[in-house]
Amino acid sequence: MNILILGSGGREHAFALKLNESNHVHQLYVAPGNAGTEKIATNINIDPTDFKAVKSTVLENDIQMVVVGPEAPLVNGVHDFFLADAELKNIPVIGPKADGALLEGSKDFSKQFMQKHGVPTARYQSFTKENLEEGFAFLETLEAPYVLKADGLAAGKGVLILFSLEEAKIELKEMISNKKFGEASTTVVIEEFLKGIELSVFVLTDGKSYKILPSAKDYKRIGEGDIGLNTGGMGAISPVPFADDAFLDKVEELVVKPTIAGLQKDGIDYRGFIFIGLMNDDGNPSVVEYNVRMGDPETEVVLPRITSDLFDLFDGVANQTLHEKLFHITPEIATTVMLVSGGYPGSYEKNKEIFGINDVIESTVFHAGTISKDGKVVTNGGRVMAITSLGDAIENALEKSYRSIQKISFENMKYRKDIGFDLN
Ligand code: AMP
Ligand code: GLY
Repeated sequence: MNILILGSGGREHAFALKLNESNHVHQLYVAPGNAGTEKIATNINIDPTDFKAVKSTVLENDIQMVVVGPEAPLVNGVHDFFLADAELKNIPVIGPKADGALLEGSKDFSKQFMQKHGVPTARYQSFTKENLEEGFAFLETLEAPYVLKADGLAAGKGVLILFSLEEAKIELKEMISNKKFGEASTTVVIEEFLKGIELSVFVLTDGKSYKILPSAKDYKRIGEGDIGLNTGGMGAISPVPFADDAFLDKVEELVVKPTIAGLQKDGIDYRGFIFIGLMNDDGNPSVVEYNVRMGDPETEVVLPRITSDLFDLFDGVANQTLHEKLFHITPEIATTVMLVSGGYPGSYEKNKEIFGINDVIESTVFHAGTISKDGKVVTNGGRVMAITSLGDAIENALEKSYRSIQKISFENMKYRKDIGFDLN
């Protein structure tokens, strides 16, 4: 079978490598892909939100399954587009339709969903310009820190955590009246601050049954000690040591089951990944957010631990036979460390030649912002590559990742040297 993966990050390179292991996969295509996917698949240089271009790619290359990496095509309705098109409607799309993708596309929708279906989450209310004054009054009922969230997609930047009431009121006004995040902050969710330690749990579902994938923790801040600006993620570890079986059982009972049942009750036929951002407060889970895709760099530690055939699992999602599929996870620990361009998450230069990738032997190099130019691999983004290793303890896996990094270089390469610092 020929498969098309939409996206261009480390997540999509990880999907491509894992699908390539399957005997069922004939030819892989990645759109637009990166220098890593180019080695094992055919890159097609189109925008994954340009559905007409996606359609031509599918028809020209006899694609029989589409795996969607990022959220934008899902929220924009790529799955619905396939179902509505006579030539595409029988080609399965791994990823929810627009109704399910609202779990990520609208914070207000996802909070209403959680409340309606009894999924534990922070107390909240939503506000628009019509009831801005009530927003100020609601803030006064809460204690610092204050959490303000733009309702719509804001490239991961739409959440503000503010330490004074005054600042919170100013920012609420900025978001709603001055469109700080454009249309995304027309509606703003204000919610209680949750205490605890953050982690993520990933679910693959065919809408009826589900598999709970390995848990992971990512390191979002640019600076060591988890300080400085937020990034897409600077590293990750799986499994999460503080998510023991008792906690994960609670996550399944209190979060996963009501989420899947809620989707069914609401008539949302959801086929794809659900990425559940959780707070563990003294052993009790509370949902911070849903995403309707896998995480990046979490995928780069989750997929290497899955020993079952990923295509077979996707086939189960497409045909609603996921319950019949084998699903095994290695107990080994996976760690990944992200190499980034100097300046990221602010402005940075591209086109820096990357040296030493082929010298890495004890880790897997997942390409993210890379591109091939004149036979060289050069940087093409802020997050450049994720270096993943497996080990029987976090320290062993991390040592491998850091040793491998010594072999790789590009001008102004940066990375965090303290991934996992809080878990030892
Ligand atoms: P989100 O985009 O909803 O994941 O929010 C981004 C980050 O803000 C999360 O990963 C958390 O670190 C933090 N955050 C969001 N909501 C809350 C909350 N209610 N309490 C504490 N931290 C939060
Ligand atoms: N690493 C966080 C995300 O993929 O949203």
